[in-house]
Amino acid sequence: MHVSSLDNFRICLKKFVVPDSNLASEGKLRVVEIGSADFNGSYREIVDMLDCEYTGVDLEPGLGVSVVLEDPYVIPLPDASYDLVYSGQTFEHAEFFWKTFDEMCRITKDGGLLIVIVPSGGDVHRYPVDCYRFMPDAMAALANQAGIQLLDSWTSDFGPWHDAVGVFRKLSPDNPIINFEPDLSLKLAQPVQNTFPDNVPEEVEHGAGTEDCYDFLIRAHQLLKPRFYTEIGVEYGNSLRLADCPALGIDPAPQLTAPLNPRHKISLTTSDDFFMLTDAASQLEPIDLSYIDGMHQIEFALKDFMHMERFCHAGSVVIVDDIYPAHALQGERIRQSRYWTGDVWKIINILENVRPDLILLPLDTSPTGSLLVLGLDPKNNALWEKYDIMLDWCINFMTETPDEIVQRTKRFDPLDPLISHIFTMIRHGRETGTELATLAKIRTIVSGSLPRKVVAS
Ligand SMILES: C[S@@+](CC[C@H](N)C(=O)[O-])C[C@H]1O[C@@H](n2cnc3c(N)ncnc32)[C@H](O)[C@@H]1O
Repeated sequence: MHVSSLDNFRICLKKFVVPDSNLASEGKLRVVEIGSADFNGSYREIVDMLDCEYTGVDLEPGLGVSVVLEDPYVIPLPDASYDLVYSGQTFEHAEFFWKTFDEMCRITKDGGLLIVIVPSGGDVHRYPVDCYRFMPDAMAALANQAGIQLLDSWTSDFGPWHDAVGVFRKLSPDNPIINFEPDLSLKLAQPVQNTFPDNVPEEVEHGAGTEDCYDFLIRAHQLLKPRFYTEIGVEYGNSLRLADCPALGIDPAPQLTAPLNPRHKISLTTSDDFFMLTDAASQLEPIDLSYIDGMHQIEFALKDFMHMERFCHAGSVVIVDDIYPAHALQGERIRQSRYWTGDVWKIINILENVRPDLILLPLDTSPTGSLLVLGLDPKNNALWEKYDIMLDWCINFMTETPDEIVQRTKRFDPLDPLISHIFTMIRHGRETGTELATLAKIRTIVSGSLPRKVVAS
């Protein structure tokens, strides 16, 4: 299952299922999934975070399947009995998907919810056939033919599948649609992994680097003088506090150790919820400097970068923290040490390959390295188009932390005067409206200074 499909499902639950306290008619939520066989991750992992009684229905037996269909268009379950009935990445494989949808409506209780997630793009993939892609009007057509209400529908920005999503309620047409506020709690979120084992030996905890990452950030603020700063991952507030300008931090569980600067705000949400479930644009100004230091798993770091870039401009600077684990254990996706980079290091490879237009300077900061990214382009869609394909490769195939990362082979020394010079140029470019010419100069300087790429330790 692709990552963005799981995210779309989570959004449906957060917008319509969790806020509807009357949905579970008999204590537990009675849930049916159509096309439930688990191929490398499933919606069940998410729906199981709610108190539910789950039935998985599929054409074939397999992991997550409790009912195997004899007739693909007859679901052997009783009428009007389930609170939530959903199907994802399945209708494109059903020759007569409208018959499946009719059956889903039949087993849904009055007032119950239905969710359909299907691709609008992407390559042919047969299970056992691949017949359809769904355009934006498809969900309204499904609702019309079944005589139920369409609550919401959207097409995902994340490619290459660009899922079409529909959420429906089985009600007579004259019943009013109730709009709930989305649930922004951590109920359905990935565990934030803010705790770590005690007594981890010193050799596991060591970092590296020539300059402390906070000293580097202080210099970035002093030289860039950003007009608006954003930060994903606030924790104690140590990095947010360095901003001497209006700023927005995003963190679902900050543990501030000092009062917040009156010009700073914190959105108490995960970054996904902030960008996908709140009106992010109304809370952001054009970003001059952004620090990405939230959930240390590649899908989060990459999404954070992609979302932030949409609010950046050619003179913006983005810093992604934690690109250099000191050894393989620190680079694991599940936290096992105090210094934990997770697999954020994969972002270097992704950006190098998919965004050759960006200027990337991996910095040898302490303890876990920082990636300086210049040349931001809010209109560039390359990462969005390849999102799920890149993540499949990163999560399922790129599993070992390479030596080149642990050794920091491509590192730039943050104390090299080149870096301060670049910050001064960026600020000057921004203040004189010559951002693009400035970037061209920086590109030449960086590419012409190859020996600097390997800094003697
Ligand atoms: C390494 S700490 C940030 C440290 C901070 N930037 C500093 O240097 O002072 C990581 C923070 O990310 C937050 N976090 C975890 N998952 C997140 C998510 N999905 N969205 C936003 N923040 C998240 C955690 O709650 C934690 O406070």
